[in-house]
Parts: sequence; structure tokens; C-alpha cells
Amino acid sequence: MAAAPFDADGIDTGRPHPARVYDWFLGGAHHYPADAEFGTRIVALDPTARYGARHNRWFMQRATRHLAGPAGVRQFLDIGSGIPTEPNLHRVAQDLAPDARVVYVDHDPLVRVHAAGLLRGTGAGATAFVEADARDPELILERAAEVLDFSRPVALSLVAVTHFLPDTGTGTGTDGDGDTDGAHAVVARLVDALAPGSHLVLSQLSGDEETAWVGEAVDQYTTGGVALVPRTRAQTERFFTGCALLAPGLVQPPDWRPELGVGEVRDGTRVPLYAGVGRRE
Ligand SMILES: C[S@@+](CC[C@H](N)C(=O)[O-])C[C@H]1O[C@@H](n2cnc3c(N)ncnc32)[C@H](O)[C@@H]1O
Repeated sequence: MAAAPFDADGIDTGRPHPARVYDWFLGGAHHYPADAEFGTRIVALDPTARYGARHNRWFMQRATRHLAGPAGVRQFLDIGSGIPTEPNLHRVAQDLAPDARVVYVDHDPLVRVHAAGLLRGTGAGATAFVEADARDPELILERAAEVLDFSRPVALSLVAVTHFLPDTGTGTGTDGDGDTDGAHAVVARLVDALAPGSHLVLSQLSGDEETAWVGEAVDQYTTGGVALVPRTRAQTERFFTGCALLAPGLVQPPDWRPELGVGEVRDGTRVPLYAGVGRRE
């Protein structure tokens, strides 16, 4: 078998990667032909897929507006942050709260390459990037603590990320099914580290809806060694254990507080993701 092509930064360009495919869906410029081919196949199966990606992004922005605004949160930990797309989370937060401190985390080296542009925050606030796997919460918490004070509220975002984390990890331990690095155990560990008044912002591919492209995406990603795990409403709600879901609860992204949107385009198309914000109790 031919070796996968790698570019000068050690980035595997030969197969689709979640951050780059998402960049293609959003109309960005930081992806490779393998990502564009995959995205094109998905859009052929479901022409609304790009609409869904944009609405996922807008959900993150509206949630951040609520948190940096009325909720008064000043610290943000965005895991699976993706390739920067304007406006990124720190821009939204620091527009409302210039002293907001933001730590981005992603495991894709291409995100790291483009993260330099992220680090220009406001003078009063702080913006940092950590290259790490979401399944290593101890490393993430240790590195994030260099910028964030975990004795005070933190908004933890895992937006369109948990569906890339399988349920069955390789560890032995605390998740009821014997895993310490399965998706629910990882999120539980991160939520456990948050002070009361912190928030969890999460969206997740729904396993409750018939979508033409999900089967194709699961097959394609699995072939490339990436898990893609749609989850039911109950499985998604379980990520919020220890948090009280804010109104309107777990909904499709366009329905989460649409009044906070700026310049969004809506045509009523259904987006097969669950999205919600919970407040740590
Ligand atoms: C669909 S993008 C979402 C980007 C951003 N959160 C948003 O919603 O706009 C998923 C991101 O999760 C990252 N990701 C996937 N699995 C990951 C893991 N195990 N650890 C860290 N990041 C991961 C990908 O690299 C990608 O940037």
C-alpha cells in the first residue's frame, strides 16, 4: 500500500479529516482535494449539508454571545475548535467582554498551523492554542490552567466534536462501560473540573434522524481511521450530566435562541444535530 502523502508540516493530506472537511463545508480555503471530494459526495447526497455546517457555527456564536453577555462568563475553553473561521469564538467573546480569556484546543496539526492568527486577542484578554487530543482531558486541563482560572466559571465548548469521539475507549475505569477515554467519560471529566456557574456548550450529530449522507460519512471516516458516532437525544443529554440545560433545551442548532443571531440565513431546513447549553450546578 502506498504511504499516505504528508506535507512539510507532517499533515496527512491523502484522506479526509474532520477540520478540513468542515472548512470545505463552510467555504474556507484550508483543505485538500481529499476533503473537497468527500464534501462534494456528501452534498450530492444531501444538498443541505453546508447549511447545517453554517448553522452549527452560528449556534456556537450565539451561545458565546449569551455567555459573554448576560451570563457574565469571562473564560472559554473551546475543544475541537477547528480551522479559524471569522468570527472565531474569541472575537465574539472579546467584542462583548474585552477581558475574556480563551483557550482553543484541537488535535489537527493544520489547525495549529492556522492558529497563529487566532492568538491576536484584545490587549485586556488572552487567547491561546493547545494542540491536544480531546481524549486526554488531564493534559488539556493542565495546559488550559496556564491561561484559565478553574476556580472561576469557564465556558467549555465541544461543538460538533463529540461525534468524533467513540464510546468505547481503550482505558479501564470510570464510565460504567469500563472506559476512561470514551466520549462520555471524557466530557464528564472535563465538566467535573468546572466551577459552579460554568457552562457546557455542545452540539452532536443526531442518531434519531434519517439522513441520506450520515451512512456515507460514517463509512468514509471509518475507512480513514476516524470514528463518526451519531447519538440519540438521550445519549446526547447524558453529556450534560451535572449541568442544567438552559432554555430552550436540546434543540436543532437554528432553534437555539435565534434572537441572538447576527446576519444569519434561515430557510427552515432541518439540521440533524442536537445543540444545547448547560449550566454547571
Ligand atoms: C466539525 S469541526 C467543528 C469545529 C468547531 N468546533 C465548530 O463547531 O465550528 C470538528 C473539530 O473537532 C476536531 N477533533 C476531532 N476529533 C478530535 C479529537 N479527538 N481531539 C481534538 N480535536 C478533535 C477536528 O480536528 C475539528 O477541528
